[in-house]
Amino acid sequence: MFKKSIILVFAFSLFSPFVSIADEGMWLPLLLNKRESDMQKKGMKITAKDIYDVNNSSLKDAVMLFGGGCTGEFVSNEGLLLTNHHCGYGNIVRHSTVERDYLTNGFWAMNKSEELPCEGLSITLLVYMEDVTNKVLKGVEDSLSQLERENVIKDNIKKIITEATNSNHYKAEIKPFFYGNQYFLYVNEVFTDVRLVGAPPSNIGKFGGDTDNWMWPRHTGDFSIFRVYANKDNKPAGYSKDNIPFTPKKFLKINLNGVEEGDFTFVFGYPGTTQQFLTSHAVDRIENFEDPARIKVRTSRLNVYNQAMNQSPAQRLRYAAGVAGIANGWKKWIGEVKGLNRLGAVERKIEFEKQFNVWANITQDRKDVYGGLIKDFEKLYSKAASIEMSYLYLTEAVLCSDLMKNGRSIISLIDKSERDNLSKGEMQKEADKAIEKLKSYFANDYLNHKEIDKSIFVETMNIYYEDFAKTNFQWIKEKVDNNFKGNAKTYFDYVYENSFLSSKKESEKHLRKFNPKNILSDPAIELLSAIWGSVIEKDIPNLVVIDSKIDSLYRLYVRGIMEMNSGKDFYPDANLTLRVAYGNVKPYKPRDGVNYFTHTTIKGIMEKENPEIYDYVVENKLKELYKNKDYGRYANSKGEVPVAFIASNHTTGGNSGSPVMDANGNLVGINFDRNWEGTMSDIIYDPDQCRNISLDIRYCLFIIDKFAGAKNLIDEMTIVE
Ligand code: ARG
Ligand code: GLU
Repeated sequence: MFKKSIILVFAFSLFSPFVSIADEGMWLPLLLNKRESDMQKKGMKITAKDIYDVNNSSLKDAVMLFGGGCTGEFVSNEGLLLTNHHCGYGNIVRHSTVERDYLTNGFWAMNKSEELPCEGLSITLLVYMEDVTNKVLKGVEDSLSQLERENVIKDNIKKIITEATNSNHYKAEIKPFFYGNQYFLYVNEVFTDVRLVGAPPSNIGKFGGDTDNWMWPRHTGDFSIFRVYANKDNKPAGYSKDNIPFTPKKFLKINLNGVEEGDFTFVFGYPGTTQQFLTSHAVDRIENFEDPARIKVRTSRLNVYNQAMNQSPAQRLRYAAGVAGIANGWKKWIGEVKGLNRLGAVERKIEFEKQFNVWANITQDRKDVYGGLIKDFEKLYSKAASIEMSYLYLTEAVLCSDLMKNGRSIISLIDKSERDNLSKGEMQKEADKAIEKLKSYFANDYLNHKEIDKSIFVETMNIYYEDFAKTNFQWIKEKVDNNFKGNAKTYFDYVYENSFLSSKKESEKHLRKFNPKNILSDPAIELLSAIWGSVIEKDIPNLVVIDSKIDSLYRLYVRGIMEMNSGKDFYPDANLTLRVAYGNVKPYKPRDGVNYFTHTTIKGIMEKENPEIYDYVVENKLKELYKNKDYGRYANSKGEVPVAFIASNHTTGGNSGSPVMDANGNLVGINFDRNWEGTMSDIIYDPDQCRNISLDIRYCLFIIDKFAGAKNLIDEMTIVE
């Protein structure tokens, strides 16, 4: 009884106000004045206007979307920017060769002429944002069908964007908030001449690797440095050696005193996706079906790859980047399931939905709009369930071996030739291109790779079969039963060995004389096109219709929740737009008998050192600096170099590289991760357990200055002590 009442109180505090408890929330910079007093109460000494101001330079001018999914910040008036090592990773790899392995050894430009252009990398700066809800919803009546509604909105959006960009070089986009209850216009300046300036060696930038990933205490020096270039008018321009360093309207000053337990901090960046309004049905699907399925498939893939990577350095290099991505999602979902479970997320949602239904049925007006919502959600989610899984398995399992990926490109070749009515000659030309691609695939140590890829294929397809296809996909079930005595693994083994796609000679033979009929009878292509046809032609169109219905339910549901809690300040779910999260440097207790402190120091790197384990090798130079306590100005008052710290800022994927600022808006850290216990915060936030993990700016500068000797970069920055 006592327990129950505790749970009830909790449920109310989380759901009745729904949000803005403790440190939850990712706030729109334009509307930050509403949060100002709360932020100041928590310790902020600057104003909302210092953070976002359209007419004067403000901190927002120092923050950028880095590439398509990370954040970065300017730290000099010459366009120098900081982001994470894992955000710069692709560009560091692209500049690395066996002879000049910048990924392993690090890279430091000692002057601007040594900086390396990064083709394809862009930097997006927000010029201004505007609430355009009324303009977007002009002419939208409740009587319109969903499709009519979408069309009116599309037309309106087109007009607004043209208006915002027709007389300037800006790029604009409009994004829906609260499931289309609100719309904001974002006008951006996009720079494409971006150059790599510095990156620590892997065993600093990725220290602890996937073992430490998503975990506290952490010792990863997860940063890299770039510079934005512009034309002589300080405007965006494609790469040119005549371009000059961009002068931002604002850059961040660096506070070398750092922050301590209890201090105010805020994170300014581009969080990607959160789903705080999901109903109990959706959370149940994620916690009990979707995440577990993803985890199971990825566990089997990781087992195969990890074994391979331990066999040779060449194998490690070949699979490392892919494995980092697989492992990142895998580990996050494990944490998410645990967190949802621990919080009783589904039960809490059900409890809230009961309250919502009571509220929704008080007046006839409400009843007409909101009365049936929860029931409708339930119906649609149960209708979507197996289709959702079919799509999930296609992406997570079926398409994860190279056999199937290569098969997929051959099938699209056939699709293309049908769609575009290609002549035989034209089709052969396309097939010749495919041969070229496959050539490098087979050239690259294929025999070793084949064993690994075959294991991936057989293992993942077997999970797909046992957990889904056997009961949902008659075609495969019959195949396995009739030709392979019900043994799916034997079937998949047969498919791999007998497909032309697993033999260089056979591939060339089949593609040199491209004949769709022959190709479609290949066992791998036959299997894939059966799955592909069913998912793409049947499932996805169905799913699109259901999802659009679900979305329109959420539009009403969220409107209802806001009406029900009028007077509350709601934050919209993350959607890769600029947000401010704020909180305090704060310890936590992950489990019984364990307390976590707020900071780690360089000492912990030495404690974790293990020359036998790839991810825990420590550079000699770093050990030497540690031994001699040669810390320069980067030590704290106790004479240690802080490496990372945790705080209660509400962040998610996309916030990587975000500036973490102190009460005065000075840079004290770079956000790079969340703690494992808090990864369910994309769905439900727990003030007790949710922490963001930041690189302490003192460790970052210590590495640049003392380890790399790149004093040229330090001299560009403005340091306050
Ligand atoms: N967990 C962090 C994020 O979600 C870091 C990922 C990169 N690091 C890694 N060891 N895989 O992006
Ligand atoms: N590492 C994540 C990123 O790349 C940030 C961690 C999180 O999901 O909060 O954005």
